Amino acid sequence: MNKKPHHPIGIFDSGVGGLTVAKAVTELLPQESVVYFGDTAHLPWGDKSVSAIQQYSVRIAEVLLEHQCKVILIACNTASAAAYEAVKQRVGDMAHVINVIDSVVAHVGEHYSGQKLGLIGTKQTVRLDTYRKRISGLNKNIDLHSLATPLLVPLIEEGFLTSPATESIVQQYLRDPAFQDIQGLILGCTHYPLIKSHVQSHFNHAVKVIDSAELVSHALKQSLLAEDLLNAGTLPPKRLFYVSDDSEFFVSMVKLFFDESVHLEAYSLWD
Ligand code: DGL
Repeated sequence: MNKKPHHPIGIFDSGVGGLTVAKAVTELLPQESVVYFGDTAHLPWGDKSVSAIQQYSVRIAEVLLEHQCKVILIACNTASAAAYEAVKQRVGDMAHVINVIDSVVAHVGEHYSGQKLGLIGTKQTVRLDTYRKRISGLNKNIDLHSLATPLLVPLIEEGFLTSPATESIVQQYLRDPAFQDIQGLILGCTHYPLIKSHVQSHFNHAVKVIDSAELVSHALKQSLLAEDLLNAGTLPPKRLFYVSDDSEFFVSMVKLFFDESVHLEAYSLWD
């Protein structure tokens, strides 16, 4: 398949988390069409095995290729850590594959040299330790402390964004002694920007909260520019959203994030 500027950008995640990335992408690149896939049938991914996460991710990448996506953006830290290579291998030169970890690592290397940082993410993101390996490879003397916070994705997917229960669990996680004196906290899961205010208020806004959405959107723009694939067309961009299982919360979040009338469909991954 020949990549063309008018082809869409494919974005996927286990559920609503990647919408934080999709929103940033459409704000920075409003002329681009987007096909989004939320694997609501299998979430949360963070507790699944690496091989399961790879299977889901590769299958979704195939669906996005069927839609002629010129780029596949893995809008999920868990899949970026567990399945980036597998997706790249499957996709080959049919599309460019971008993960959410690379641009955060580059940002941290540029701005947090010699500092102490925290990271919260899913069990697999923390277990695979991709951030720490990549950040220590920069040789910038950054001291990174990671903590798995597995209760957060289920709470968010249940719509508990502003509830006291979520706030109290966030507080409990962030009271971890490893997070004392940190200068920045990486939100190592694309769901977490949806509860960013709880994180910021825990630290009295004194700690920089780093999230991937804007950073990866800029990386995506650079890569489209470099490949001469930015869409300069005049047709209105399309926004397609697929879920692998019905989710009322997903529908409400899509409506909240994209006020235009979007196209949402259920898509069974294994038929
Ligand atoms: N939003 C995802 C991430 O960035 C996946 C979370 C999950 O499904 O456990 O890791």
